Amino acid sequence: MTKIFPSLLSADFLALKDEIDTLERAGVDALHFDVMDGTFVPNISIGLPILEAVRRGTTLPIDVHLMIDNPEMYIDVFCEKGADKVSVHVESTPHIHRAIQKIKKHGKEAGIVVNPGTAIDVIQPMLTEVDFVLVMSVNPGFGGQAFIEQSIDKIHTLHQLRKTHNLTFNIEVDGGINEKTGQQVIDAGADWLVAGSYFFKHSDYAKAVQTLKGQA
Ligand code: DX5
Ligand code: ZN
Repeated sequence: MTKIFPSLLSADFLALKDEIDTLERAGVDALHFDVMDGTFVPNISIGLPILEAVRRGTTLPIDVHLMIDNPEMYIDVFCEKGADKVSVHVESTPHIHRAIQKIKKHGKEAGIVVNPGTAIDVIQPMLTEVDFVLVMSVNPGFGGQAFIEQSIDKIHTLHQLRKTHNLTFNIEVDGGINEKTGQQVIDAGADWLVAGSYFFKHSDYAKAVQTLKGQA
């Protein structure tokens, strides 16, 4: 069953509590929380104080997507402040295995992220270790970008690898997801859809959830 994770990056931060309450009522499955440091990606977003506040404001799982250099340095604190799932870019550290182990030590779900320019081959040794793989379908850093079509092949490859080797990781897709691309990635094998601009521009969040799940 497909799960929908709205990306808070596109939420109205001045009305964050109202946004979260509406998302809960709309039946979303988790909140996607984008952390950007201005060096790994050319943008700065939200961090620990907002995570703490969101944690107090919801019982929904929080999915922290770290787009930062030196992720190992910050994994502990993001876990302690309320993340339920934490994902780390393979491009952001030479020690991805250590980073994933660190997340798992906290009892949280650990994810590995691949940029559009990174091949699935690169992360193959990690597929037995992770709880999920996040396929970036835009270059990370900004909401509202166009979906990169080649991502579909990657999702398909991951789906095949999962079947062939009897693995259990989930496939998450992030970037440029709307009703059309959402259906394409589901067909290719995606389990979790992150949606930012499409979702928050929708006048009815419950409808957005149903549409993305292909149930509208
Ligand atoms: C991009 C972020 C995404 C972003 C997606 O770097 O990781 O989570 O919010 O936004 P849309 O859905 O607008 O592409
Ligand atoms: Zn993200």
